[in-house]
Amino acid sequence: MLTKQADQAYVAGTYGRFDAAMASGQGAVYQDEDGKSYIDFGTGIGVTLFGACDPGWVKAVTDQLNTLGHVSNLYYTAPQAKLAELLCQRTGMKKVFYGNSGAEANECALKVARKYGESTGRNVIVTLRNSFHGRTIATLAATGQDRFHEHFGPFPEGFRVIPANDHDALEAALTAGDVCGILMEMIQGEGGVIPLEPAYVQLAEKLCREHDILLMVDEVQTGNGRTGSLYCYMQYGIQPDVVTTAKGLAGGLPMGACLLGERCQHILGKGDHGSTFGGNPICAAAALNVISRIDDALLEGVKAREAFIRQAMADCPGHQGVTGMGLMLGIATDKPSAEVASACLRDGLMVLTAHEKVRLLPPLNISFEALRQGIDILKKNLS
Ligand SMILES: Cc1ncc(COP(=O)(O)O)c(C=O)c1O
Repeated sequence: MLTKQADQAYVAGTYGRFDAAMASGQGAVYQDEDGKSYIDFGTGIGVTLFGACDPGWVKAVTDQLNTLGHVSNLYYTAPQAKLAELLCQRTGMKKVFYGNSGAEANECALKVARKYGESTGRNVIVTLRNSFHGRTIATLAATGQDRFHEHFGPFPEGFRVIPANDHDALEAALTAGDVCGILMEMIQGEGGVIPLEPAYVQLAEKLCREHDILLMVDEVQTGNGRTGSLYCYMQYGIQPDVVTTAKGLAGGLPMGACLLGERCQHILGKGDHGSTFGGNPICAAAALNVISRIDDALLEGVKAREAFIRQAMADCPGHQGVTGMGLMLGIATDKPSAEVASACLRDGLMVLTAHEKVRLLPPLNISFEALRQGIDILKKNLS
């Protein structure tokens, strides 16, 4: 039975898939089961940072697989300890909790905020309208987009959604006296690749300090070099109390992490949280490979590729501009974005959509030649 038929018969129908069954990939090029090639501007939704089957990453993973696979969090394992050390050294955070996804990283952050506020009776978590934080019941409650909520209520209490970039609403929310944390994406990814304004983010940091509220940044999509810094908050000049990340963290294996700063590093104690697979040696070895390769040269390369894309799109009809930072870019297209994405796929280019935009999340090390070829296909399909 063909892949598509078997999938449609037996896999739960939660995904609106493109009409292609992918068979293999190398770097920024995938092949489908019919042997057709595609340039990849999607990295599996921001995951395969160094492209498909990157040799260094594959070696790190296979070496670990051949040494120690799963053993559980009942024992110390070197890859997760080394990774935590590296993440803390590179961010100034103090402790790391590992999960398996972005939603799990955010679930951990929500629990940390609740326990942080417990002694003062504060339990409200503020999030932003148009945000996306995951699809578990609690992370859906945190997500500020009603369309994701349909059918799944009731939701847990203690979430308050405010409009992004509205200073007065932020001040009113954070001075209400019942808030233990605020969770925000620096660039709203699923919401349409919309960066927060720096002055707003800096005000949030100030108010959080003044009112003993945890500033929690969701870097699930923006993190791990994607926007031109190791984590996007670094470009906003702030120091969050909690940083969550996943997607590109392990470069193609499931891993999420919740990084805890000075103020909340001791909040989670024995038995407060856990995960069978979280931080397993294989995913941790993959992430060690990824994080240790995100250096200044790579980040400069991300910015150079962003400049290349912006310049290539500047004089192109059929769109209303490019938003985002680094290699997390959104293009508001005149035609419906889903139509553009399907046409690109037909012509051999994989792109994503986000709301009404075409979204580009190419590999951080994609060659300029592949970038040029992909942009040519995109431009052709915009008008
Ligand atoms: C900002 C943000 N947070 C959380 C998530 C959820 O991540 P996951 O699908 O790994 O649970 C996503 C996924 O798109 C995301 O973009």
